[in-house]
Amino acid sequence: MNFENAKISIFYGSQTGNAQDLAERMWRESKRFYFQSSVKALDDYNVAEIVDERCALFVCSTTGQGEEPDNMKMFWKFLLKKNLPGDLLHNLK
Ligand SMILES: Cc1cc2nc3c(=O)[nH]c(=O)nc-3n(C[C@H](O)[C@H](O)[C@H](O)COP(=O)(O)O)c2cc1C
Repeated sequence: MNFENAKISIFYGSQTGNAQDLAERMWRESKRFYFQSSVKALDDYNVAEIVDERCALFVCSTTGQGEEPDNMKMFWKFLLKKNLPGDLLHNLK
């Protein structure tokens, strides 16, 4: 298969590094197949760009009492906003 130049964004939320390790492994693997890929913590991402994403992988752990890791708290809060348009992620696989 040839995925050359296909864009894929890989995001992680990770408290102690396991989800981050996995996301980075997926990123390295995606490079082997010539994806145009990126990997970053969810809170390092400018959420305004999400409307332009077409394909994304989210690798997130839970911590505490099933809570989101610290480095995805802003993103999680954003996703839970009541006034987000219902079709916000319509084009996102
Ligand atoms: C303090 C603590 C709390 C945890 N709480 C949960 C939890 O509520 N639900 C769950 O499924 N796993 C829980 N886990 C397991 C973690 O999700 C698991 O260890 C995961 O691999 C951690 O990934 P990370 O290193 O990316 O944060 C917890 C682990 C720790 C250390």
